[in-house]
Amino acid sequence: MKIIGTGSAIAEKVVTNDMLAEFLDTSDEWITQRTGIKSRHVISHEELEDLGVKAATAALEMSGLQAADIDFLICSNVMNEYITPNLGSIIAWKMGMRCPSIDVNAACPGFIYALDIAENRWLAGKAKNILIVCAEEPTRMCDWKDRSTSVLFGDGAGAVVLTGGDNIKGTKLAAQPAPDKIWERRTLEPTPFITKAEMNVPMQMKGRDVFRFAVGASTTEVEALLKEIGMTKDQVSYYMIHQANLRIIDAIKNYLGEPERKFPVNLSDHGNSSSASCPILLDECNRKGMFKPGDILVFSAFGAGLLSGAAVVEW
Ligand code: UT7
Repeated sequence: MKIIGTGSAIAEKVVTNDMLAEFLDTSDEWITQRTGIKSRHVISHEELEDLGVKAATAALEMSGLQAADIDFLICSNVMNEYITPNLGSIIAWKMGMRCPSIDVNAACPGFIYALDIAENRWLAGKAKNILIVCAEEPTRMCDWKDRSTSVLFGDGAGAVVLTGGDNIKGTKLAAQPAPDKIWERRTLEPTPFITKAEMNVPMQMKGRDVFRFAVGASTTEVEALLKEIGMTKDQVSYYMIHQANLRIIDAIKNYLGEPERKFPVNLSDHGNSSSASCPILLDECNRKGMFKPGDILVFSAFGAGLLSGAAVVEW
């Protein structure tokens, strides 16, 4: 497939590090040094699906296609207020679309999982034009008394429209299952038959382990994927790395031995927006006119699962 439109939408409310330091035992200095994040956008009055619709509408407008031209929608999301229907159906309904949709919950690498599914559906002849919407509100998952997680996240949505083409040069999905590294549980409605004890636990994360996993998985997958498709690092124009932590991005850059100019970042004023982070970064760079036809973009993302993935896309 080929990406012919990008869009993004972020929550209105800006929360700075200093604002967090008013109610958490933290500081702008700690958050900036350890993560590179200065502020983040946090959902307050908005509905997540509306951010998804806004991002998707912008991507559709850029693509020149109409909503009716889309024949499959993939929505990447970890948590939203609806258990059912899927967020994709809600977004499709609000946009007047009638195509089938699936939600993918692959945490932070969700955009790459969605690209892989889109490419394979297209290769199977099942769809011509596909919309991917990554809509995430991780700020609703953390414990706002826990300084080790709540300072990291921001909310938003990113979208791309894909049509037939030969521009997805390769995708690689990977996993090192370890659900104890990032997890959260919600107590469900009891039935008359439930006898087991259930727990309501906000997001838990073993930050250092996830950091190590992120750097190892990203560098291994990027190098393996480039090799698999017969490309070299000097052909890569940009590395679009999941915006979790500037130190993670720096470590990946140093390991790959690639120059800083190839690593666009926006996390200082977004924080980690889970699977929305890559398509939001893509849209921001695209709208700044950074990409020219033929540029090679390497996406790499990692997160809960532990899941990770990489994709090579020709612009
Ligand atoms: O999307 C993928 C999901 N997650 C990630 O990518 C996260 C990956 N991990 C990380 O980014 C980093 O591990 C963190 C930013 C989460 C933490 O940085 P770290 O350098 O690994 O710090 P740490 O967890 O080892 O904590 C160091 C100290 C601890 O204090 P003590 O035990 O040394 O006294 C923490 O309690 O920093 C303390 N700390 C904080 N202090 C001020 C933890 N969070 C904060 C905070 N403000 N917000």
